[in-house]
Amino acid sequence: MEYRRLGRTDIIVSSLCLGTMTFGQQNSEAEAFDQLDRAVAAGINFLNTAEMYPIPAQRRTYGATETIIGNWLKVRGRRDRVILATKVVGRSNWLPHIRGGKARLDRDNIETALNASLQRLQTDYVDLYQLHWPDRHTNFFGRLGYQPQPDEDATPLQETLGVLADLVRSGKVRHVGVSNETPWGLMRYLQLSEQTALPRMVSIQNPYSLLNRSFEVGLAEISCREQVGLLPYSPLGFGVLTGKYLHEQPPAARLTLFPEYHRYTNPAGIEATRAYVELAHAHGLSPAQMALAYATGRPFVCSTIIGATTLEQLDENLGSAALTLPDEVLEGIEAIHTRYPNPCP
Ligand SMILES: NC(=O)c1ccc[n+]([C@@H]2O[C@H](COP(=O)([O-])OP(=O)(O)OC[C@H]3O[C@@H](n4cnc5c(N)ncnc54)[C@H](OP(=O)(O)O)[C@@H]3O)[C@@H](O)[C@H]2O)c1
Repeated sequence: MEYRRLGRTDIIVSSLCLGTMTFGQQNSEAEAFDQLDRAVAAGINFLNTAEMYPIPAQRRTYGATETIIGNWLKVRGRRDRVILATKVVGRSNWLPHIRGGKARLDRDNIETALNASLQRLQTDYVDLYQLHWPDRHTNFFGRLGYQPQPDEDATPLQETLGVLADLVRSGKVRHVGVSNETPWGLMRYLQLSEQTALPRMVSIQNPYSLLNRSFEVGLAEISCREQVGLLPYSPLGFGVLTGKYLHEQPPAARLTLFPEYHRYTNPAGIEATRAYVELAHAHGLSPAQMALAYATGRPFVCSTIIGATTLEQLDENLGSAALTLPDEVLEGIEAIHTRYPNPCP
């Protein structure tokens, strides 16, 4: 396992981070404990979660993932051996079970969310507190075609950052980061922190995979120049890049259990996946490991957030840490990307 600096902090994280959003839905607590143990044994020291998890977000399961992680931390002890990242939801009228559908990135919401997260996680601090998505109207979760919309009621970024500053001062949060953010949002946050001595965003958790390299257009340059490392999420496109959905008989897995998720299965995405899977097989590689090693190898990436529902999947994904892609594979990937650029943004 390789270790890298998180932004400009003195925190060193593993180049793979364990994603947890299946804990409490597709995975039981016992399965989650097994995954956490296996990941730590393989050298992972970085865990990513969110108040909202597991997915799909539902009233019945809200907070269950953090509760499971908290139970694991309590039983195993050694809170200090992991770098724990969680998130507060952005504007969430579509999630009526979270603070009555009135969740915003303002003081009341952020403080309420963090205190509840700390309680569920059974800890008195999180290493990285992330804004899950913006409060303002903008494009994220695959939305294209930017349309300016009136959003005078959006919580100003400076106000949000001011709340985060107080949380850092209180010791409940060590560092802060963004997620599902745009180049404008990230640069504005960085500018505010320079002008006003408010905390600096240390990371950005956005989607990034062979099926969606849109991060490279504007955000990658900011990541490198400003040392705000990308924590790529959904690096296998919800499992699609393993090739498992190319078979005639679809597996019992996330996309068949929850058919509302179709971000990675449009026709171009499927065709691109077929090409990536063929490339991997032609070089004797596992398609999953090739996709993960590609993400982890990008210069703007800090730590790739892997997810699994079985230990076999987890082992395969952990194995990507030891894989350096040969030049012929990298060239093959670029050729496919040219043919199918960002089919699943
Ligand atoms: N900030 C955000 O908005 C955001 C959004 C999404 C995710 N995330 C974070 O990123 C983490 C990873 O996201 P993700 O789960 O979407 O990642 P992903 O790598 O795209 O998909 C992971 C899923 O693919 C399947 N899979 C994984 N490895 C496999 C293998 N080797 N062989 C076959 N199937 C395999 C498993 O689901 P099945 O067994 O059901 O197929 C697994 O749960 C999450 O846990 C979460 O922490 C953040």
